[in-house]
Amino acid sequence: MTDVRQEAERLPTRVMALLNQKGGVGKTTSTVNLGAALAEAGHRVLLVDLDPQGHLSLHLGIDGATCGPTIYDLLIDPAVTLDATIQKARPNLDVVPATVDLAAAESELAGAAERHAILRGRLRPHVGRWDFILLDCPPSLGLLTLNALAFADEVLVPMQAHFLALQGLGRLLETVSLVGRGVNPSLKVAGILLCMHESQSSHGREVVQELKGFFAAAKGTAAAWEEAVVFLPAVRRNIKLAEAPSFGQTILDYAPTCPGAMDYRTLATRIVEDWRERVRRRAVAEPAPVVVETPKRTRRARGDAAATRA
Ligand SMILES: Nc1ncnc2c1ncn2[C@@H]1O[C@H](COP(=O)(O)OP(=O)(O)OP(=O)(O)O)[C@@H](O)[C@H]1O
Ligand SMILES: [Mg+2]
Repeated sequence: MTDVRQEAERLPTRVMALLNQKGGVGKTTSTVNLGAALAEAGHRVLLVDLDPQGHLSLHLGIDGATCGPTIYDLLIDPAVTLDATIQKARPNLDVVPATVDLAAAESELAGAAERHAILRGRLRPHVGRWDFILLDCPPSLGLLTLNALAFADEVLVPMQAHFLALQGLGRLLETVSLVGRGVNPSLKVAGILLCMHESQSSHGREVVQELKGFFAAAKGTAAAWEEAVVFLPAVRRNIKLAEAPSFGQTILDYAPTCPGAMDYRTLATRIVEDWRERVRRRAVAEPAPVVVETPKRTRRARGDAAATRA
């Protein structure tokens, strides 16, 4: 059997913002359960709750009243360390939680210099501790989301496969590219994650075809979504996924063999394969610089040095 953990170690950290300005599309459900499935497969995962609703934290059973410093403290107070905010939620699964306090951060940071880059400044030096960092964004494009986009390498867009969602996607992609030009020029759209999917509906299938066509047309352009894919199979609608949060459990804790659990495990495998493929493509496009041994380290130089000492 392949040792996923060892393979994961060879890949750089993948930092993804789960973003859709539309509410209730599956951002939090996907951040929690994709994170849990990656952790179950042996990858080291950090989840960051960037939503003042604190749903990600609640979903993992973290009590805002007793959890200590949160993402709010990390953003507002330079004396608070990242480690002080981290909760060890499950094996391999760390969380920076949020509470409703976070709602005040937008206005408190309004006058701060480089206010969009605070999260990046606090987390970037530590990213190598995890294989995957997933950011659960609020359903808005305010300062918290801007901080996520300034820090992330990629955006993953959870959405439902229906026509109106496609309209919203165009606007979202435009925003990503505008933000990208301003605060994070290397930001890319990794792809679409279809949530609450009704695989039987012909409308759903049509929308998937449209999405595929849209991304195929962007290949080879300079668009931020040039390499975007529709991650398939989609996550099916499954009531267990809606029940799990009220028990403070991931779907893997609550109903480990239900269709929702299987879908998030499959997605985790796809996300790892997709990352391995992107890293490989980048390595081909930008070969690593040839390391030239310094003369001191060559055998001859070591021999010469030994001869000199003698
Ligand atoms: N595949 C699914 N099947 C059934 N219910 C789901 C599924 N995915 C998510 N849900 C439910 O849909 C609702 C919205 O999901 P979720 O909270 O993940 O969306 P969100 O995009 O994070 O919302 P918000 O924009 O408010 O942050 C929740 O009640 C969740 O339990
Ligand atoms: Mg949410």
